[in-house]
Amino acid sequence: MITSEMKHFIEHLPKVELHLHLEGSLEPELMLQLAERNRITIAYDGIEAIKAAYNFDSLQSFLDLYYQGSNTLQTEQDFFDLTWAYLLRSQAENVRHVEVFFDPQSHTDRGIPFGVVIAGIRAALLQGEQQLGISFRLIMCFLRHLSEQAALETLALAEEHLGWIDGVGLDSSELGNPPDKFVNVFARARELGLLTVAHAGEEGPAEYIADSINLLKVSRIDHGVRITDDAKLLDELVESRMPLTVCPLSNVKLCVFDSMSSHNILQLLEKGLCVTVNSDDPAYFGGYMNANYEALVSHLHASKAQLKQLALNSIEASWMLQAEKQLLIDEVRSLS
Ligand code: ADE
Ligand code: ZN
Repeated sequence: MITSEMKHFIEHLPKVELHLHLEGSLEPELMLQLAERNRITIAYDGIEAIKAAYNFDSLQSFLDLYYQGSNTLQTEQDFFDLTWAYLLRSQAENVRHVEVFFDPQSHTDRGIPFGVVIAGIRAALLQGEQQLGISFRLIMCFLRHLSEQAALETLALAEEHLGWIDGVGLDSSELGNPPDKFVNVFARARELGLLTVAHAGEEGPAEYIADSINLLKVSRIDHGVRITDDAKLLDELVESRMPLTVCPLSNVKLCVFDSMSSHNILQLLEKGLCVTVNSDDPAYFGGYMNANYEALVSHLHASKAQLKQLALNSIEASWMLQAEKQLLIDEVRSLS
């Protein structure tokens, strides 16, 4: 249950999104439009059929569908439309700054040039900054079920677009694909001046969180909810303020937690971790930023003070300039 006052509070909270896969914001309506526009046959004959497939029992069961959806993206216009639709939704939810992921290998492996993908995304992000007032950073993810060599080749393709890329990340199937597989490509990315993040401790063990920090030198951990399995590491992350980009609706949809009422985000917050709220793949998981915040009120009884702290953590954990952060911090603090 959530009161209309709390809904209103969440709607007016200035929000920052740090864990969003652009391909995961592909709504069924746009997926069908793109399939038609690009003359691609997909396995579903309508919106309801696509939505009926959104019944996942693990990360892998989701990824299988997610990569099929990504196949409908072909032209620069498609990547523009995808990104623009996400930004419009973000503006409607009072999201002020976004740091978004894209998976170039899902596209280059199908013969779509890297330059086509990034040009469409970049044009929409720039238009979003100008017309919607949403600032942004862009993070290129490596697919961890593929080899490090493939990641290195992708990084080489990215080199001519480095001015448009702020960081690299690591996503896809976590179990069996540990951070140490990607030490060299992350070192090269850092040499090129890129920041680093990695999904860790979503389905995989807390050890992958430690290895991402120590071996990949990440400045944030994506998910990280399995941190509770290692009390000593948890204390270290409290001390270092290492951010965790937690995705509540995603975690329940992918059965990381049995239900929202058993999610650990508020426990982590109360222990002093820099946890943040994010939507991950909102088209597939049933909601964008406000729905994720609302779920914490409805199922975990989050207070206004906790919601404000979560929003402040996202500002702190972002890659915005300090002066930009301060404006948002002041705005969050002034809310009652
Ligand atoms: N790619 C898209 N969403 C993901 C998630 N939640 N975990 C790992 N890889 C992903
Ligand atoms: Zn993710």
